Amino acid sequence: KKVVLAYSGGLDTSVIVKWLQESYGCEVVTFTADLGQGEEVEPARAKAQAMGIKEIYIEDVREEFVRDYVFPMFRANTIYEGEYLLGTSIARPLIAKRLVEIAEETGADAISHGATGKGNDQVRFELGAYALTPGIEVIAPWREWDLTSRETLMAYAEKHNIPVDFSKAGKKSPYSMDANLLHISYEGGILEDPWAEPEEDMWRWSVSPEAAPDQPTYIELTYEKGDIVAIDGEPLKAHEVLEKLNKLGGANGVGRLDIVENRYVGMKSRGAYETPGGTIMMRAHRAIESITLDREVAHLKDSLMPKYAELIYNGYWWSPERKMLQTMIDESQDVVNGVVRVKLYKGNVTVVGRKSDDTLFDDRIATFEDDAGAYDQKDAAGFIKLNALRLRIAANKGRRLK
Ligand code: ARG
Ligand code: SIN
Repeated sequence: KKVVLAYSGGLDTSVIVKWLQESYGCEVVTFTADLGQGEEVEPARAKAQAMGIKEIYIEDVREEFVRDYVFPMFRANTIYEGEYLLGTSIARPLIAKRLVEIAEETGADAISHGATGKGNDQVRFELGAYALTPGIEVIAPWREWDLTSRETLMAYAEKHNIPVDFSKAGKKSPYSMDANLLHISYEGGILEDPWAEPEEDMWRWSVSPEAAPDQPTYIELTYEKGDIVAIDGEPLKAHEVLEKLNKLGGANGVGRLDIVENRYVGMKSRGAYETPGGTIMMRAHRAIESITLDREVAHLKDSLMPKYAELIYNGYWWSPERKMLQTMIDESQDVVNGVVRVKLYKGNVTVVGRKSDDTLFDDRIATFEDDAGAYDQKDAAGFIKLNALRLRIAANKGRRLK
């Protein structure tokens, strides 16, 4: 049996390599993706080699990740349960796709991952894998093995000479973390008490709003078909846009979030997130849409957005209904071109200007000054009277509203 493992190079997935070799007698192929998590991926090669892995895939997928997953999602102003920008959720479909592609290339019959049996990630990896390769086999060690505590896991690692990574601070982070270009997430540890405030030193990507500079930072974002293509006039690739916005946002205390969310498996879970660039993109995209989109198109998009967000959160990126919604969302973006001017200041993202050759904003019509006949205010009387018709009929018939 041959299995392709989503391998981070960290302790947990290193233990999984050994465990797959031991309990399944598997040949293991490792796949390590650079999604812009800010950690070197190359060290995973030596670690995998030391465990006897012969087929090692290490890939820089940063541009593909932002261009084909993050940007399409932001075209819909996507947000889960009113708060979460889906940083982890949106990376899983790409990993699922590469796992089954590599399985095909290497003649493997199974894929494996390090997600637990309690979370969303297992669902996302596996729904994606089954949707793309219906006959694939999935091995999810966390649902099978008896390494159910940190201690037993460490003991297993020591027994098999797997080096236990220690961070710069000299101790392992107490949080379960996941990072890519869109966000870094923290779960577990003291966060398991929803009343406990995260310690300041948990946050890695942003300064606190209190410690942010007293001077605001202004930036100009250029949009083409709903995607940012330049910052302050400088053309950038998709992943470079997020890299730059993360720096600018993080330096101004933008993008921290502390929430309790509903996992697909049914439990509530507390998480903290830093999404500096994504937070800026969300505000700015709404601003460029505000002048370029027709009202009904904008409202219809908005009404479907929570469904689209739920599909991504629950792991249905690779589904016909997500594809259908994407086609609709993308179609709406043809006119979403122009420039948004944004001010970053102590955790706030404030839109201060927007302009577009495709603008629907008509100052002749909107003005409070004399509009020289562009808009006939008398028309409004009939508009209101007919809209009131059913209300007046009901009132005349004695229907009571209070
Ligand atoms: N709760 C978030 C989500 O479901 C973040 C999950 C973090 N994943 C992780 N492996 N630490 O998208
Ligand atoms: C995990 O359980 O592996 C991480 C959290 C999640 O997937 O929701």
